[in-house]
Amino acid sequence: MAVLLSTKAAAMEMWRDALLALDPTLEIRLFPDAGEPADIEAAVVWTAHDMAELRRYPNLRLIVSMGAGVDHLFRPPGPPPGIPVARLVDRMLTSQMGEWVLLNVLRFHRQDLEYRALQRDRTWLELPAPVTAERRIGILGLGELGTHAAGLLRGLGFPVMGWTRRPRALDGVEGFHGDAGLPAMAARSDILVCLLPLTAATRGIVNARLLGLLPRGAFLINGARGGHVVDADLLAALDSGQVAGAALDVFEPEPLPPGRPYWSHARVVMTPHAASITIPASAAPQVVENIHRARAGQPLLNLVDFAAGY
Ligand code: GLV
Repeated sequence: MAVLLSTKAAAMEMWRDALLALDPTLEIRLFPDAGEPADIEAAVVWTAHDMAELRRYPNLRLIVSMGAGVDHLFRPPGPPPGIPVARLVDRMLTSQMGEWVLLNVLRFHRQDLEYRALQRDRTWLELPAPVTAERRIGILGLGELGTHAAGLLRGLGFPVMGWTRRPRALDGVEGFHGDAGLPAMAARSDILVCLLPLTAATRGIVNARLLGLLPRGAFLINGARGGHVVDADLLAALDSGQVAGAALDVFEPEPLPPGRPYWSHARVVMTPHAASITIPASAAPQVVENIHRARAGQPLLNLVDFAAGY
């Protein structure tokens, strides 16, 4: 039996080596060289892989999606029905995202956009001191990523709030949930951080209404998916001063076309979906473990919940 591997060309061999280092008996086939379709028992694939293609393998019993986000799996036609799909929950993915959120919270909190502009103008000007205990941070989504970021921010002394679909208690984080909780948290978020899964319910959640509820001059940080933000609404909020700055790692589409306004907007800081990049050696153990579990008919790790949408 064999494992089909399909990801960005640059990462393919690193992934193969990381899997083989853990289990040298694995037979790994690099897509598109799948060989005999009946040999394939597991497919380890990322977003560019065509889900319809996976229907070619009659003995497939496990699909591993090589990232934290799973929204691509919900686009038609979706993975072959009845085959379990696992995602990656990886300490390094989580900690990299935590660093990126901290970087941007501190950038906005410490008035870095203003100081950079002043430096460009050769202007020596001290701005009012920012007060950490008064900079309220609202995090949309308290999954693996949101929970970790909340802990880091609390550790620095920021007041942290979190919004979730269902009630979720997290030590030291003021919780908000459901439709009523969202405007309540937004109204108090000086910095709003989006780390939600992208689902039908969260697409476009950062829209004119939500942005309009933020305290004037608030900041937005989006490390989740481009589809969470209504771009025209964010640009309007930036231009009116309602939102004083945005740090964006994710876009629709990706790569973001060169003509889009974010590229040159003075109040937007962009990274090219690079906030958190999967490191094969770190993520491979759970993949090999899941392959072994699938063979043994044991419960799988990090399964995607298709009913919940993430
Ligand atoms: C990256 O965006 C991921 O979902 O892992």
